Amino acid sequence: MSDLKTVYPVPEAFARDALIDKARYDEMYARSINDPDGFWAEQAQTLDWIKPWDRVKNTDFTGDVSIRWFEGGQINIAQNCLDRHEATRGSKTAIIWEPDDPKAPGRRISYSELAAEVRRFANVLKAQGVAKGDRVTIYLPMIPEAAVAMLACARIGAVHSVVFAGFSPDSLSGRITDCGSTVLITADEGLRGGRKVPLKVNADKALDHCPDVTAVVVVRHTGGDIAMKDGRDIWWHEAMADVSDDCPAEPMDAEDPLFILYTSGSTGKPKGVLHTTAGYLLYAALTHKYVFDIKDDDVYWCTADVGWVTGHSYILYGPLANGATTLMFEGVPTWPDAGRHWEVVDKYGVTIYYTAPTAIRALMREGEAPVKRSSRKSLRLLGSVGEPINPEAWRWYYDVVGDGRCPITDTWWQTETGGLMIAPLPGATDLKPGSATLPLFGVKPVIVDNEGQPLEGACEGNLCIADSWPGQMRSVYGDHERFAQTYFSTFPGMYFTGDGCRRDEDGYYWITGRVDDVINVSGHRMGTAEVESALVAHPKVAEAAVVGYPHELKGQGIYAYVTLKSGETPSEALRKELVAWVRNEIGPIATPDLIQWAPGLPKTRSGKIMRRILRKIAANEHEGLGDTSTLADPSVVEDLVGNRMNGN
Ligand code: WTA
Repeated sequence: MSDLKTVYPVPEAFARDALIDKARYDEMYARSINDPDGFWAEQAQTLDWIKPWDRVKNTDFTGDVSIRWFEGGQINIAQNCLDRHEATRGSKTAIIWEPDDPKAPGRRISYSELAAEVRRFANVLKAQGVAKGDRVTIYLPMIPEAAVAMLACARIGAVHSVVFAGFSPDSLSGRITDCGSTVLITADEGLRGGRKVPLKVNADKALDHCPDVTAVVVVRHTGGDIAMKDGRDIWWHEAMADVSDDCPAEPMDAEDPLFILYTSGSTGKPKGVLHTTAGYLLYAALTHKYVFDIKDDDVYWCTADVGWVTGHSYILYGPLANGATTLMFEGVPTWPDAGRHWEVVDKYGVTIYYTAPTAIRALMREGEAPVKRSSRKSLRLLGSVGEPINPEAWRWYYDVVGDGRCPITDTWWQTETGGLMIAPLPGATDLKPGSATLPLFGVKPVIVDNEGQPLEGACEGNLCIADSWPGQMRSVYGDHERFAQTYFSTFPGMYFTGDGCRRDEDGYYWITGRVDDVINVSGHRMGTAEVESALVAHPKVAEAAVVGYPHELKGQGIYAYVTLKSGETPSEALRKELVAWVRNEIGPIATPDLIQWAPGLPKTRSGKIMRRILRKIAANEHEGLGDTSTLADPSVVEDLVGNRMNGN
């Protein structure tokens, strides 16, 4: 340990050309905290406004919780991301699309072309009766049409809800129903790692439960044979064939909704996280520009999927607002082999590469050879997102992928925060492997103990944010009370992130992972309650408790304790059946890694499941089980310990 470097200073060469150096960061950060109105008003000048705002910040974390930025202002996001760049960089590539199959042709779409496509698709949506405020669900693979569909919604003021293409028909129909979409945009099939994903078939199954959906626009992507329903389904290419590319941008109020994105919480069904217009765009654009040090000639690649918030803010809105070239990749890092990402980097001269620790760990396992086959000399900056990055993976990323030249920006944030919150600015911040380092502009982190007392100096506790920032979510769609309850009631007056965090003696933040019943599997959020309710929906299951456990590749794996109904016998076949059942109910990302048969679950005398104990058993920390005397039946624990499943 001791001979490993623990601090990586900003490389001089990088600092020289960086947009922001240390002194400038200190000055801007201080101003953003001491004079938020002045700071954000100045930053907002970087956007094109239809009508200027009357008031910059009007936010209240108490009572009903109300968050409003740039009230009175009007703006259109598609206009800011596209039309305004046409004059200065119309022929610049906006989107590079690299398909799943390395031999298939990719696409380069210029700002002018993308703007025209978006205006045409906006007219297609209008022709389907979509108007300002209507919800549109998007269930598409990583193809440019996903970007076109999202921006077309933004252009006419429709609210998009993108559902990750790996979700099951049930998950899709639940999300369509919750937000009351009447239009769905999907494709015949998706492609990932050479395998087809039956999107239209899934969509049809989902729509059996969504009678209000009146139109389905289908992209022909693989050309696979699918059924089209008369009077409901239309082909994207046919609808686009003879539509005008003239479509004025709808003037949107700053606080008009832009999108809903469903995410898992500790309890119940996924929540529709609601983001609005001006504050979100400003925050996504500003964080993207400064954290990735964006210059006009950069080729920027974020490997996320548009189905997650990272795809929304850092494949689409942030980069396009900044007039950058953003790369969209349909495939996976390990297909056809573990060198694919680096081939793509060389093919397009990618300068900034942003991925998740789980991908890095998977590639690290394949050794250095697939990396070293490529040049990667175009790279100048690396990024990490989605889960804590273990220092071993950080160093491999730095030394092997970045050849020791490229800073790594480890970005901590959430679907709820809309944009990056804690992250190094590569020209300003010295790095420590495993730390997301320092807060970004306008972000005021507070670490509190379990009683809600703010802790000072070096400490560890629950991570809260003391005041609002423009990218913050505004509500849970259709349930504002749940919003106030979930995020502002645990530690009143503060936004509670659900994450644990340590602050070191230099003021650096180290996220330690979720402290609630959310688990982070390969950088994807999963609520234990969701997996449990999928399991108990199986006719043979009486009860289930799900916890996370440390997993070498995924960060956390899904560990399920299952009690069968009396008369049912555990078997390998039933275990497989339950795994398949959960995949089918939620989607492959919810696949339980381990299922342990539990004759009983540890409960308090009042019947509450003691998850703390289940987490310890799953993590193989039997010594630390703590006090089990409050259990109704302590022998249950012995049985569970004795029959623990071995993971990884
Ligand atoms: C975790 C993804 C440590 C964290 C953008 C958070 C991280 C949850 C990091 C949000 C990071 C995200 N270091 N942990 N750099 N980034 N997380 O909503 O637990 O899918 O609360 O947003 O991921 O996941 P979400």
